[in-house]
Amino acid sequence: MRPIDTNMRLSQTLFGATFHNPVLLAAGTCGFGEELEDALDLEALGGIVTKSVTLEPRAGNPPPRVVEAGNAMLNSVGLANPGLERVCSEKLPWMREHLSSIQVFVSVAGHVPDEYWRIIEGLESVGGFLGYELNLSCPNDTRLGGLPFALDPDALRVVVEGARKLTDRPLLVKLAPNVPDIGPVAEAAEDAGADGVTLVNTMPGLLIDIASRRAALGAGSGGLSGPALRAVGVHAVHRARACTSITLLGVGGITAAEDAIQYLLAGASLVQVGTATFADPRAAQRVVMGIARYTEKMGIENVQDLIGVVQGTDRPVPVSGGPR
Ligand SMILES: Cc1cc2nc3c(=O)[nH]c(=O)nc-3n(C[C@H](O)[C@H](O)[C@H](O)COP(=O)(O)O)c2cc1C
Repeated sequence: MRPIDTNMRLSQTLFGATFHNPVLLAAGTCGFGEELEDALDLEALGGIVTKSVTLEPRAGNPPPRVVEAGNAMLNSVGLANPGLERVCSEKLPWMREHLSSIQVFVSVAGHVPDEYWRIIEGLESVGGFLGYELNLSCPNDTRLGGLPFALDPDALRVVVEGARKLTDRPLLVKLAPNVPDIGPVAEAAEDAGADGVTLVNTMPGLLIDIASRRAALGAGSGGLSGPALRAVGVHAVHRARACTSITLLGVGGITAAEDAIQYLLAGASLVQVGTATFADPRAAQRVVMGIARYTEKMGIENVQDLIGVVQGTDRPVPVSGGPR
């Protein structure tokens, strides 16, 4: 089944572009699309977000890069990617040719604001994609405090304001979940000129192999993803919805349509599927079909009628741990 032909219930216009359905593949879990081309029908999705692109090629971290973590996965891939030059000469032309009917966001990462800006300038000169998603979860230069930009609203503003001046394309800012309150961080992204906020990136985690007494991942600690992250992501979207009016994209722990619908109800217009693709390359396609079935069954004319309509969450949203 091709939802793009058959299901106008799932179609939305966002950022001046048509999304055939609200389901995208998440950054870092689908490369630039080619690796998954034979495994699923990419054109049946709403779009993809590419692997984060850095200025220079990166080989990535030592193995193991991925370990199972209960109802989750821990990874430290180290942003392995071919770098700006090869992305411009090889990946963008491939995506332009093969993914022309879906929406593509190029994910951008760096250690200092200038790196983000130089990558955007380079990508702008080639084009062939809808917009950018700034991955602000990378630790920034120690001269800037060494914190990931996503944990430091002032540093985040600098990156986003500079990026805004370089492009008219939709600019998404991807946030990290490990902040006391994600609302003001999303607000900072909106003030700085972002068109949308993606919530959430992975959560920091550490697993230890007790036989060797060493970290289970080659790089030491890593980022937790998968079902265990879902409630954190849904909460982050709900909190950002209360603080901002820009478009939200929900990501974290989506393995089935029921998970994606929670994100829509919390206030996300689009969702992204990440870790689930590793277990089942067609997971995102299943999510699309499940949302279509749900809207039909519930008599919902367009998926937009689901966005942000959650009820029963009017108690103050907890912003830190502890008993309530
Ligand atoms: C192996 C792996 C690599 C990832 N690489 C990136 C990346 O390059 N850029 C980025 O912004 N997020 C990256 N992420 C985070 C995902 O895009 C997503 O935010 C996170 O995994 C939560 O979604 P999930 O639970 O559906 O996987 C990566 C996640 C995994 C598991």
